[in-house]
Amino acid sequence: MAKRETWATRVGFLVAAIGSAVGLGNLWQFPFKTAGNGGAAFVAFYLIAVLLIGFPAMLAEFVLGRRTHRNAVDAFTELGHRQWRVLGAFAVVTGFWILSYYNVVGGWVLRYIVGSAQGAYFDAPAEYFGAVSAGPEAILAQLVFLGIVVGIVALGIEDGIEKATKVMVPSIVLLMGALAVWAVTLAGSGEGYAYFLTPSLDAMVANAGTAIPFAVGQAFFTLSLGMAIMITYSSYIGEDDNLLVDGGVIVVVNTLIGILAGLVVFPILFANGIDPALEGGASALFVAVASGFGGLPLGEVIGVIFFGVVALAALSSAISLMEVTVAWANDNYDVSRPVLAVGIGVALFVLGLPSAWNVSYLTWFDNIAYSLLLPLSVLLMVLFVGWVLAGDAVAELREGTDGVETFGPIWLWGLRLVVPLLVLVTLGLGVYELFLAPEPTFFAPFSGS
Ligand code: PHE
Repeated sequence: MAKRETWATRVGFLVAAIGSAVGLGNLWQFPFKTAGNGGAAFVAFYLIAVLLIGFPAMLAEFVLGRRTHRNAVDAFTELGHRQWRVLGAFAVVTGFWILSYYNVVGGWVLRYIVGSAQGAYFDAPAEYFGAVSAGPEAILAQLVFLGIVVGIVALGIEDGIEKATKVMVPSIVLLMGALAVWAVTLAGSGEGYAYFLTPSLDAMVANAGTAIPFAVGQAFFTLSLGMAIMITYSSYIGEDDNLLVDGGVIVVVNTLIGILAGLVVFPILFANGIDPALEGGASALFVAVASGFGGLPLGEVIGVIFFGVVALAALSSAISLMEVTVAWANDNYDVSRPVLAVGIGVALFVLGLPSAWNVSYLTWFDNIAYSLLLPLSVLLMVLFVGWVLAGDAVAELREGTDGVETFGPIWLWGLRLVVPLLVLVTLGLGVYELFLAPEPTFFAPFSGS
């Protein structure tokens, strides 16, 4: 078998992982959920969830990938726990399922870049969104988005994903930063910031029923956990990086981008007198924020830049998800990477057709993924690393890491007890909403109002 690829540089791994983490979840969920659930108080709460759940679970995936240098399924064989391969396969299938409709949403974003340049949605944003988000137009856009993703993944780790994300991630940061600076000049900026971040413990407590499950769910969705992405990406690490530092950088940048997004969208909404009392989701971005561009000088340019950033964020996440399946196929079959990427792309396209045809299928796919597949996958993964791999996991974490002596056991007990308990609660709530609730409330990223 040919030599397995690695990242050319440590920074290559880092930007690829940041590109995966920074996605639609940061841009259209995080700002609105923050504003609606207590502003800065919610941010603090969310950070606690990330530290207690997301960060330890991410380290668990890193350890699995870097120790084995295998795809997420065969990693378990490599570790001598062949029967746990089903767990890896479950995570791979979860990712495949999610990518099928993520491509559809990616297509909308591309379409909105064009629509912004033409000012096509300025007069009737809701109607425009309705027309392009489903049916033949959405299928075509899905195909274009998927084509770009397949093209990058086909080029491989170093020449494809690493090179692409090294351009994409800095562009996201710079452009979003530039938009945030520009937003300061808008008439609504002060009001927008206040709406976004004014801390309110009362609001948080009043909305605890939805705010807590959201924060917990977002803690692993936003870090791309439970879909075998971080296992796959860390399996290409060449030398032994300090995983704690890498994980820390990813968490910090990922959170900052979410905050930056809020500093852009709320001034735009307030400058145009648009009611921001939305819970996030597709219409928050594609209707509310989009309609704001119509009322601004140079709205076309701003719209192109804004949706350009969203497209980069969506692409760098979709690439990471595509690589999960391609890595598995590439490790197992003697077929060239480009052929595998195209084949898997075709399968994804077909699975995404219902979602592109009708948004209610997309919502259904998303709810199943977010409420059931993802939490289950994260739960099993941390239990495996905490209880089965145990000491070996700590030993792996120590490679390339100084001063992890005390952290190792704390991390392990976190994986054994704290993370499973919290994820179990989310899973229970999700299952209740999916199958039992008379009027379900969903937290899935694409099902907001
Ligand atoms: N971390 C991504 C986000 O916040 C989630 C994601 C990654 C979704 C990869 C799909 C594919 O949007």
